[in-house]
Amino acid sequence: MSDSGTPRKTYQQLRSYQWYGVQNLRAFGHRSRTKQMGFSSEDFKGKPVIAILNTWSDMNSCHSHFPQRVEEVKRGIWQAGGFPVELPAMSLGEPFVKPTTMIYRNLLAMEAEELLRSHPVDGVVLMGGCDKTTPALLMAATSMNIPAIYFPAGPMLRGNWRGKTLGSGSDVWKYWAEKRAGNLSELAWVELEDGIARSPGTCMTMGTAATMMSVAETLGFVLPGGSSIPAVDSSHARLASASGRRIVEMVWEDLKPSDILSREAFENAIMVDLALSGSTNAIIHLIAMARRAGIPLSNEDFDAIAQRIPVLGNIRPAGKYLMEDFYYAGGLNGLLARLRGELHLDCPTVNGKTLGENLAGAEVYDDDVIRPLDNPVWAQGGLAVLRGNLAPRGAVIKPAAAEPQLLKHTGPAVVFKNYKDMSTRIDDPELPVTADSVLVLQNAGPIGAPGMPEWGQLPIPKKLLEQGVRDMLRISDARMSGTSYGACVLHVAPESGIGGPLALVRDGDLISLDVSERLLHLHVDDAELQRRRADWVAPKPHYPRGFGRLSAEHISQADEGCDFDFLERGTEAVADPEIF
Ligand code: FES
Repeated sequence: MSDSGTPRKTYQQLRSYQWYGVQNLRAFGHRSRTKQMGFSSEDFKGKPVIAILNTWSDMNSCHSHFPQRVEEVKRGIWQAGGFPVELPAMSLGEPFVKPTTMIYRNLLAMEAEELLRSHPVDGVVLMGGCDKTTPALLMAATSMNIPAIYFPAGPMLRGNWRGKTLGSGSDVWKYWAEKRAGNLSELAWVELEDGIARSPGTCMTMGTAATMMSVAETLGFVLPGGSSIPAVDSSHARLASASGRRIVEMVWEDLKPSDILSREAFENAIMVDLALSGSTNAIIHLIAMARRAGIPLSNEDFDAIAQRIPVLGNIRPAGKYLMEDFYYAGGLNGLLARLRGELHLDCPTVNGKTLGENLAGAEVYDDDVIRPLDNPVWAQGGLAVLRGNLAPRGAVIKPAAAEPQLLKHTGPAVVFKNYKDMSTRIDDPELPVTADSVLVLQNAGPIGAPGMPEWGQLPIPKKLLEQGVRDMLRISDARMSGTSYGACVLHVAPESGIGGPLALVRDGDLISLDVSERLLHLHVDDAELQRRRADWVAPKPHYPRGFGRLSAEHISQADEGCDFDFLERGTEAVADPEIF
């Protein structure tokens, strides 16, 4: 029994006992091969085996500090009496992986789950941060349901250029538009390249990485305050060793994801996502994660909670500051303290305490970075879920990131049949487009693109940029980088690639968006839409073989989280196949 009276596991009850503890020929092999690596019996005998799933690679700049951090995690595991084993997992560096990391989120989730299943692992430290790594690792741990703690990579330092602060992504889009408009020199552009990413760590705007790390902590998977610590801060190294120490205890306590995840924990996560004006990608990931846990969650839950939760995090792209400022202002604990009246405070977390207990003493040190409830960045409705004949299963928009006059707008469609078509024609001086037009991108969804890339922030046509236009209504079945902004309607479901209504839009069709009415309407009558549907020809599959084909055959639509049908709850994981 523990001090708190919680029953503790015995060594004989650990999974790894089957590999190391018993006296048979196979266990002889496991022990002798462990000794081959220079370990002695004293290193592993009677100890929980703790996997460290490390998503480091030379192609993931956001995780470039992980080789050092993994040593610090191991230090904590040794200190607490565990046996650490590092298991490298797919890295998914967001800028480098094509066509998009999203198509590989499910591959990492599968890989991580199988690494845990097939090895002698009693508990796991999940090392991730760059966009898709967080949901993938948590989806795996949820399905495997062994004790798991998440160690977030943390955000990089602020960017810097000629004395100005630069934010990942957001300032790239901003200055790229200025360059295309002829307002920025080549030299300035190279200087921006030098200054925008100047330390290890994830994007330091409230993009998908910062959003998902905050969400992971709110769900209960990160030690309190851990998700806001900048990657190069010495506190981050201490978080690593503390995570290592804690996971050993979690194994003895048998504190599993199923003990932490609940409908209330997901509602807390949605509240935090909205209070941070987090990435729209979090909707897809949270729905996928909840479905792995057997907890119903839908787009509508986000819309409903958005009606009462104000945006308090004044962080780019919706606000002014960056993650480094957020940390100094009190970080996620400060934000949670501001939301205390809304949160489900009795949800358990990895440190064995409730969310509410972890907030004891939490404070905000800068009211402009983490706004008080009576002075929010955006009063409420930071996210809206739209429906209509153009999106029968929903679409999303982030009103806080759009020009307000576009939130109720009707205009003629300018249709691009795929990304290549868009990139070829968008700057054509003859393109019949005005500031009132609605840019429509087809075939950018989970199957049609494939992998639902972050193409949803379609570029403003150059000739309009030169006229001073900086935002337009844009509609697609793609996603959008959390660092992006603009009046972009995203995640249209069902997607055009499988014949959803978005596939039937033609140049000149009038489209209406009314965010206050949650409406996205195509002004084409049903009979004409039927005729167009009869003429529609499905695009050829992108992948004849391999993972791409598996994905196309099994991925769900955006409103269901884009997981594979055979990985969701209902296809239960087998933690211990009968191999011994
Ligand atoms: Fe890794 Fe943005 S590129 S978090």
